[in-house]
Amino acid sequence: MKREQWKSELGFLMAAVGSAIGLGNIWRFSYMAYSYGGGAFLIPYLTALLTAGIPLLILEFAIGHERIGSAPLAYAKIKKNWEWLGWWAVTFVMFGIVLYYVVIIAWCLNYLLLSFNLGWGNDPNNFFFKKFLLLSSTPSQIGEIRTPIFFSLILIWVINWTIVYRGVRKGIELANKIFMPMLFVLTAILVFWSVNLDGASIGIKAYLTPDFSKLSNPKVWIDAYSQIFFTLSLGFGIMIAYASYLPERSDISKNAILTAFINSGYSLFAGFAVFSVLGFMAQAQSKPISEVVSQSIGLAFVAYPKALSLMPGGNLFGAIFFFCLVVAGISSSVSIIEAFTSAMVDKFALKRKPLVTTIIILGFLGSIIFTTQAGLLWLDIVDHFLTNYGLVVVGIAECILAGWLFNIFILQRHINRVSSLKMGRLWVVLIKYFVPLMLLIMLTGALKAEFSKPYGGYSWAAISLIGINWIILTVLVAVVFALRPWRTENLKKGGRGHKDK
Ligand code: PHE
Repeated sequence: MKREQWKSELGFLMAAVGSAIGLGNIWRFSYMAYSYGGGAFLIPYLTALLTAGIPLLILEFAIGHERIGSAPLAYAKIKKNWEWLGWWAVTFVMFGIVLYYVVIIAWCLNYLLLSFNLGWGNDPNNFFFKKFLLLSSTPSQIGEIRTPIFFSLILIWVINWTIVYRGVRKGIELANKIFMPMLFVLTAILVFWSVNLDGASIGIKAYLTPDFSKLSNPKVWIDAYSQIFFTLSLGFGIMIAYASYLPERSDISKNAILTAFINSGYSLFAGFAVFSVLGFMAQAQSKPISEVVSQSIGLAFVAYPKALSLMPGGNLFGAIFFFCLVVAGISSSVSIIEAFTSAMVDKFALKRKPLVTTIIILGFLGSIIFTTQAGLLWLDIVDHFLTNYGLVVVGIAECILAGWLFNIFILQRHINRVSSLKMGRLWVVLIKYFVPLMLLIMLTGALKAEFSKPYGGYSWAAISLIGINWIILTVLVAVVFALRPWRTENLKKGGRGHKDK
């Protein structure tokens, strides 16, 4: 079977950007900037981008492109007994991260509809937790499935299915070529609208005023690195799969740099809309800005709705805002589903269409737990473990694998043969020493915090039953996949690098 290919490099770029730009760009970056020194945060952020994000993105593109395969195949072609690592990455994103990620997209869809009549009423906090989620107090109180969430979840899976089912070119590439420009235009509308609100400047000032004293705190630097890894979808096996669909002549380093800068530029830009609205709300309620800011779920589902109710035309603004979240979210979720699909096709020669349908059904069933009354609590625990450990461990292993157990010069030569911007010794040093070291520091910090007290105030039982078991189970599944015999000849085929000799 011939490997599918992107129609154009622009299509690939849009897909990579689509994966990178997600919910995290809109609600995580701006809050981080605000709390970690405003404009001064750009120093650790850009440092992390240049010293770790871009080098690792180039590495992932190179692994996928040179080894010509999704993560398990590419890793197996590097070192046979490391195939499980690739399976682990694609498994914990497909049967972990994406399961709750789609549920958050479903909430956004519900809120998109609620926007039209500001259906959250005058107490959005109460509405979100008590009426919408009907949140239970502990993870073990599953309660009932929330029907409005359940129905929008079905719709979100159907959209994902429609896109991935149609394949790389007619599905993912086409969707992202529509989604990304649309997302940029709509975000621009939100930014221009919001900066003209009364009080916007208060918010922007809080967002950007540099406070260099914050930079002496190591946590600021560690979090900047972890944000960069997450936002560029690194360590998920996604970028490897996407790059494996590139034609022979494709400029790897240029596309990696473009992906990285478009993604970070988008975060920075969207932050203006987030903070202008918060500034507007602070002014309208005569409160200091510190009382109205919040991050992630609290920002999108509590603070923002509150502001929308105060704003002229808030329902239209809200509809556009939640639509942006849905679009940004779906372009990320399809990338996860594709990373897993591609791995299954590479190893087991399965037919794409029935395979995608099966994966989507399994994913849908797995995500139902997050639509229950305990959904948010489960989501919080699973997210904490998978993003703090899964992603970081894969990142470290990836650098060791490419830098130490493999002749990294094959990858370097390959990059330099196809790319306009050449990678020199510095890149090799970053991959072999610096990036794994940074990831190790992040891992140690996370482990230390883990043992000092149970994460998020949950019981140890909940943490180990849900969080730790999720990690163990996904590793087991990965090992099982890795031990199955190959049904294709893919493993026997070499990389593209032999042509360099
Ligand atoms: N880059 C995405 C974001 O910032 C993260 C992500 C990508 C998560 C793909 C899951 C899957 O939101």
